[in-house]
Amino acid sequence: MQSVLVTGGAGFIGSNLTLELQRRHPEAWIVVMDDFRSGDFRNLEGFRGDFIAGNIAEVDIDKRFQEGAFDAIFHLASITDTTEQDQYRQVHDNVEGFRKLLQWAKSDQTPLVYASSAAVYGKTETVMGERCTPSPQNAYAFSKIQLDHLSGYYRKQYPAWNLVGLRYFNVYGPKEAHKRHMASMVYQLYLQMKAGKKPRIFKDGEQKRDFVYVKDVVEATLAASVASVPGVYNVGSGSSSSFNDVISRLNKALGLALDPEYFENPYSFYQNVTQADISKSREKLCYEPRFDLQHGIDDYVKWLLKSGES
Ligand SMILES: NC(=O)c1ccc[n+]([C@@H]2O[C@H](COP(=O)([O-])OP(=O)(O)OC[C@H]3O[C@@H](n4cnc5c(N)ncnc54)[C@H](O)[C@@H]3O)[C@@H](O)[C@H]2O)c1
Repeated sequence: MQSVLVTGGAGFIGSNLTLELQRRHPEAWIVVMDDFRSGDFRNLEGFRGDFIAGNIAEVDIDKRFQEGAFDAIFHLASITDTTEQDQYRQVHDNVEGFRKLLQWAKSDQTPLVYASSAAVYGKTETVMGERCTPSPQNAYAFSKIQLDHLSGYYRKQYPAWNLVGLRYFNVYGPKEAHKRHMASMVYQLYLQMKAGKKPRIFKDGEQKRDFVYVKDVVEATLAASVASVPGVYNVGSGSSSSFNDVISRLNKALGLALDPEYFENPYSFYQNVTQADISKSREKLCYEPRFDLQHGIDDYVKWLLKSGES
């Protein structure tokens, strides 16, 4: 790759992706576009490329870049606070930037990978496959399903275009601290336990999530940009683990023996289980998660202790 655009590159997944791209392609020109609404420049320590501070829905891409300026585009910019209640803002900002990128990239069909989300599946007790009927339960999830619809429309018009949507599940790992209350449960529980407090979770701690380590997510995202298999794919670990399980694995990684403290779940809507069916991404993207939960938590805790980020 000679030149790459990463939107949302100051964020959690975007910065991990950007720095991995730079490591693999040291000569490439990498342009990050981010408006810092939730990202942080500190995530990009060591970045040597170009940075455009701007809202993707407002930046004039046509004027900024020549046609075919990039070999690949990774679109991760998004409002990621799922509790943001302003429906207009959530949908407008998340969808319009993507629409602009598609319009701009369609003429030379630059490979484009964008972040969708497991949130599109909503409340379902079954293993989530890409064919499941979406059931967005908030404006964030609704905006993500719009990205999938929009990309589907363009895939029909331009079937050879490598246009790929990735439905990330519950991602955890380095460089997520800036997300505060939206950071992963792995990080939130780590902070409490590191401070010597009992980790607090909803009763009875048996709610399950498909936790996927950010290094696996970066691999899947890079694979999608070169696989030439347009479509929408799940990116999870393919198995689900309970919050009790996360606590016992954090205890192991930290050498602690803290019991959870349970409290009532105040939310009437709460997903009991999320679990990705990753057979399609395994087959088409050759995606194979390398980190099971213990391995991912061990790697992450090592990084957290070394970086002092707590
Ligand atoms: N982290 C997860 O578990 C998860 C799960 C499913 C989907 N996703 C998706 O993955 C992508 C990355 O998420 P993340 O966890 O790194 O979150 P993040 O909040 O750390 O990163 C999002 C980045 O996009 C930037 N941004 C937002 N709107 C923008 C705009 N209009 N123009 C320019 N920059 C903008 C933010 O400043 C931030 O740096 C998002 O699209 C998110 O919806 C993440």
